[in-house]
Amino acid sequence: MSFRRVLLLGAVGVVGAGSLLLGPTSAFAQAGGSSGAAPVGSHTDSLRDLGAKVGLRVGTAVNPAELTSSTYSSLIANQFSVVTPENEMKWEVVEPAQGQHNWGPADKLVAFAQAHHQLVRGHTLLWQNQLPTWLTDGVANGSISNTQLRALLKKHIQDEVSHFKGKIWQWDVANEAFTNPWDPEWSGTPAPGHFWVNHLGASILADAFKWAHEADPKALLFYNDYAIENVNAKSTAVLNWVKQLRAQGVPIDGIGFQTHLDTQYGVPTDFTQDMQRFGDAGLKTAVTEADVRTFTEPNSVNTPTDTNAVAVQNAAWKQSIDTCLAVRSCISFTAWGVSDDQSWVPTTFANPQEGAALLYDSNLQPKSEYFTVQHELATTEAAHRTGIGAGRS
Ligand code: G3I
Repeated sequence: MSFRRVLLLGAVGVVGAGSLLLGPTSAFAQAGGSSGAAPVGSHTDSLRDLGAKVGLRVGTAVNPAELTSSTYSSLIANQFSVVTPENEMKWEVVEPAQGQHNWGPADKLVAFAQAHHQLVRGHTLLWQNQLPTWLTDGVANGSISNTQLRALLKKHIQDEVSHFKGKIWQWDVANEAFTNPWDPEWSGTPAPGHFWVNHLGASILADAFKWAHEADPKALLFYNDYAIENVNAKSTAVLNWVKQLRAQGVPIDGIGFQTHLDTQYGVPTDFTQDMQRFGDAGLKTAVTEADVRTFTEPNSVNTPTDTNAVAVQNAAWKQSIDTCLAVRSCISFTAWGVSDDQSWVPTTFANPQEGAALLYDSNLQPKSEYFTVQHELATTEAAHRTGIGAGRS
């Protein structure tokens, strides 16, 4: 997959968000109601508390195995009001051998979230990456037919959404089903080269949303993608596609803007205008995987090669959180991990080396980017989002 990111521009708009109350077993109720505020005893200027003042959930991707570290777990509990398992709800993890489920790591995070009045973003049910080898091998050697593949996907979605029923606020049902305008196979539709679309046709995406909805009717269902943080050919294609699905009655509630940015491509410029048009179409929106990488010294995850890059990183974080604050359909803002050393970036972009992508350094100390996000949350004049945090109506 290409990770070239094309960046973005801005204008402000306002979309009302409906409010509703859910029963006591809903993910919303378990997370302590509408505020998302941290339990008593935590920092009063934490990101979660500042976000709660405007009804915005502020979150992070979490590696559940790291929760045994009290420094890490305290930080997650105090700073964030929504969490996403970085890998632990993906198919290769939850069903490593056919028919043998491994819910443990994700269960651990869900329990942690409930204990700390946090909501959970489920990630992700239909993606071409991190599939179990028993599945991909079976497709490759012909022992799994397309008919069987469809049945296996349906069972996977039903099993997983049922297992976590009532505990997931937003599900990333489908992830990265479009290619990119700069790819040779770009078609402006869910990609023919995409594993699922290739084998089962584009209608499999609509089916995935329907199956997820049947298994947990109150969960918010999202389509999640990258390089859509701009008014560009890809975001326009996604918008047109999702409008079409909704017109057909497909239960898709929102769009996740991954927001993996890179200083070499500049600061987003029309992100707000872009996200607003999804809100205008009646969709909820979320920043789901925010980070801002830059070139770093060889073998370093923290030290930019150009000290001026830090200013660009701060500007990019500012634009990302400002967009989410400005667009009232934006219900959560999630960073893709906590500290630079644990980010996916250094291993994925190793030559030339990139890193320094997150809000905390390798010692879990907040970086200037953390204080930028904190400042924007503290000083925003955005209207409060009523009903944000509730499930679908
Ligand atoms: O768990 C194995 C471990 O047993 C093994 O020893 C080790 C050796 O490489 O690999 C471990 O698996 C790694 C896994 O992360 C868990 O750490 C995989 O190699 C590695 O490829 C995998 O990377 C994840 C990547 O998705 C896979 O595509 C990243 O952590 C994760 O941050 C990243 O997240 C994606 C989102 O889901 C979708 N959007 C893009 C984003 C960044 O690529």
